[in-house]
Amino acid sequence: MTKWEYAPAPEATEIVSVKDTYGNYIGGEFVEPNSNEYFKTINPATEEVLSAVPVADESDVDKAVSAARKAFGTWSSMAPGDRAKFVYRIARVIQERAREMAVLETMNGGKPIKESRDIDIPLAAAHFFYYAGWADKLEYAFPGRRAEPLGVAAQVIPWNFPMLMLAWKIAPAIATGNTVVLKPAETTPLTALMFAEICEQVGLPPGVVNIINGAGATGAALVKHPDVDKVAFTGSTEVGKMIQRELAGTHKKLTLELGGKAANVIFEDAPLDQAVEGIVNGIFFNQGQVCCAGSRLLVQESVAEHLLDKLKRRLATLRLGDPLDKNTDIGAINSRAQLDKIKRLVGVGVEEGAELFQPACDIPERGFWFPPTIFTGVSQSHRIAQEEIFGPVLSVMTFRTEDEAVEKANNTPYGLSAGIWTEKGSRILWMADRLRAGVVWANTFNRFDPASPFGGFKESGFGREGGRHGLEAYVKLVAP
Ligand code: NAI
Ligand code: MG
Repeated sequence: MTKWEYAPAPEATEIVSVKDTYGNYIGGEFVEPNSNEYFKTINPATEEVLSAVPVADESDVDKAVSAARKAFGTWSSMAPGDRAKFVYRIARVIQERAREMAVLETMNGGKPIKESRDIDIPLAAAHFFYYAGWADKLEYAFPGRRAEPLGVAAQVIPWNFPMLMLAWKIAPAIATGNTVVLKPAETTPLTALMFAEICEQVGLPPGVVNIINGAGATGAALVKHPDVDKVAFTGSTEVGKMIQRELAGTHKKLTLELGGKAANVIFEDAPLDQAVEGIVNGIFFNQGQVCCAGSRLLVQESVAEHLLDKLKRRLATLRLGDPLDKNTDIGAINSRAQLDKIKRLVGVGVEEGAELFQPACDIPERGFWFPPTIFTGVSQSHRIAQEEIFGPVLSVMTFRTEDEAVEKANNTPYGLSAGIWTEKGSRILWMADRLRAGVVWANTFNRFDPASPFGGFKESGFGREGGRHGLEAYVKLVAP
């Protein structure tokens, strides 16, 4: 099978206006940082500088937390129905400005426009719509109890789904009456800053949402600020553990969404062509930079050869290149640091004796790129079977029986997600009962819905985001 030739179809970028410099968004205004320090944010597909963004130091963090505290009184005592209107308005403006936001997300993060346009931004809007709906119905979510907001929520998010992670964090927090200080990841601040503009546009009371920028030091200062009541973090397991240690013994409530090493389990009776699409979506969606990516493929031995032939043929048709092109399947890796990590771990895989397959593919000269990669001959003890690579790299293993599949799938320090492909409903239920994973997909993968809770077991973290469960992280329940 060869790749079809298409004329380039890049999305126009004129719709987006990026400022040369931004401030932190504190108390309803963009303000210069006390630190006087800025960092450049780039387009990872071209390495072109897009803008300069402030580094918030401890005093900037303090200013943002104070603004959030000040806003908490009025926001938490507002009639829930009125609060809901603001959250609805945010959702609608995200929809109205969806194209602009999708282009900006792709420019700053490197993900294919078809993903930011069809998945990231529509889902972000959907989360605001969903939680707007709950704002005045909390007595139905928690019957017999009264749900009170916690206060100021400190939220630190990663770069793989910048706008979507912002929505997962901010929507339930403000819908339940909390105020927020959010720090986007240092490589992808721009859609969060556009979101700050949207907060202004909808007339959100100043201080309800504050956006500060910076890297790990800023995040650390935010989560340890004494006037914060709740911390929500998505990112690496390493930093998650540091935050948990930092918060131990304090009054702060914590949820952590960390890494994963999901098994995608293919039984011999599975619809194999569909499964191939599911495997591709599982590991190449967002270049594999997905905490719930299906990075370990477990195939029943009897169909392994056949399935791998199909999969390799399919890989040869994937298009890597300009993320703004509507035909692109594989965009840029988010940063040079992430690309280095992927290269390092792929090198380890080769040294450990696994067999590497990559389809022929042209790599652009500038920017950060990694071709779709499959490792066969992988054993359970290989580092590429155990560690999160967070790139477009699939480790393939085989099994013979259901028991073996369960044992291998659970043989990981993580437990975020898993996939099962089989025609037998009873087998799906049997497997789902035994897989230690927060989300188990059956005959699909990487499906998200705001009504469905998401979160991990073991080192993948704790707490749930999304759904009715996602409200619990932002409220204390008291007698009515
Ligand atoms: P990271 O955990 O360092 O960064 C995530 C967020 O935490 C960013 O906003 C960052 O500025 C902030 N942060 C960093 N250090 C902090 C600290 N000490 N206190 C508070 N906030 C802090 O992740 P990084 O370095 O970008 O990626 C490393 C690896 O982590 C990736 O290769 C991947 O394996 C994993 N990762 C997992 C994610 C997930 O969705 N579960 C998302 C991003 C990374
Ligand atoms: Mg880090």
